[in-house]
Amino acid sequence: MRHLMRPLDFSVEELDKLFDLASDIEKNPARYAHMCEGKKLATCFYEPSTRTRLSFESAMLNLGGSVLGFSDANSSSAAKGESVSDTIRVVSCFADICAMRHPKEGAPMVAASRSKIPVINAGDGGHHHPTQTLTDLLTIRSLKGRLDHFKIGLCGDLKFGRTVHSLINALARYESVEFVLISPDELRVPDYIIEMLNEKGISFKECTRLEEAIPELDLLYMTRVQKERFFNEEDYVRLKDYYVLDKKKMKLAKEDMLVLHPLPRVNEISVEVDEDPRAAYFKQVQYGVYVRMALILTLLELV
Ligand code: NCD
Repeated sequence: MRHLMRPLDFSVEELDKLFDLASDIEKNPARYAHMCEGKKLATCFYEPSTRTRLSFESAMLNLGGSVLGFSDANSSSAAKGESVSDTIRVVSCFADICAMRHPKEGAPMVAASRSKIPVINAGDGGHHHPTQTLTDLLTIRSLKGRLDHFKIGLCGDLKFGRTVHSLINALARYESVEFVLISPDELRVPDYIIEMLNEKGISFKECTRLEEAIPELDLLYMTRVQKERFFNEEDYVRLKDYYVLDKKKMKLAKEDMLVLHPLPRVNEISVEVDEDPRAAYFKQVQYGVYVRMALILTLLELV
């Protein structure tokens, strides 16, 4: 039985297969509409989410399956002190596959070690968010036609943003991907990521000004400042509006530079950018459903 815990759990070849499947689902949804009939997905969310949980649920419903779960730790037995290990054993009796989000790093991994059904990490603290990475990769592959030979800028909260950590790890496996890490000093990418990039000899630079970096980018991945992971409100307030991507900055960018964002957006992308054909963040949400459908089929061994 297979779980998905980290962005590197699938090899590049396995990812290619998964993305081919997701693209086929996009083109021929009817072919997949009954593949999960009689199967159930449990969504166990101990931390807030709109997109990820609904995206998983929509994916399972599109496959003809059913969904059950909780979206708030307080409405589950966690509020009574139940451990994730016990919860997953119980959930294993009710469902065929589980997507779990937890504020504690490693919690879905503990669950997976006790589980009788495949577990998908739907975000664990500031650690990883592998299905967002699958979404990001499928979006890039579908809209750019490739996952290699480009320069990507990641901008915003690179310290606490788990989607950033997962995406850098994943893209580091492809040829000639260069990184521009744009953040305030306090929100720089963690050292272990810098060490990984250095070890692999991958080209990257760190800077603080978006205006300076934007003209050379093929892709810009914007992120929000992760309020819930700050230790004090004052720091958050000081940093939250550090970057605002607006029409003026978009004028400095290449004509085919894509703007991605895992969402939710707060202020970091002005709504006036939404009309720009380079804004791909809402398309990205749609790709998230296709890739989760492909993932569910793969982990349930139905393809
Ligand atoms: C992200 C997350 O939860 O890490 N959201 C998502 O799943 N699309 C990004 C965020 O919360 O900023």
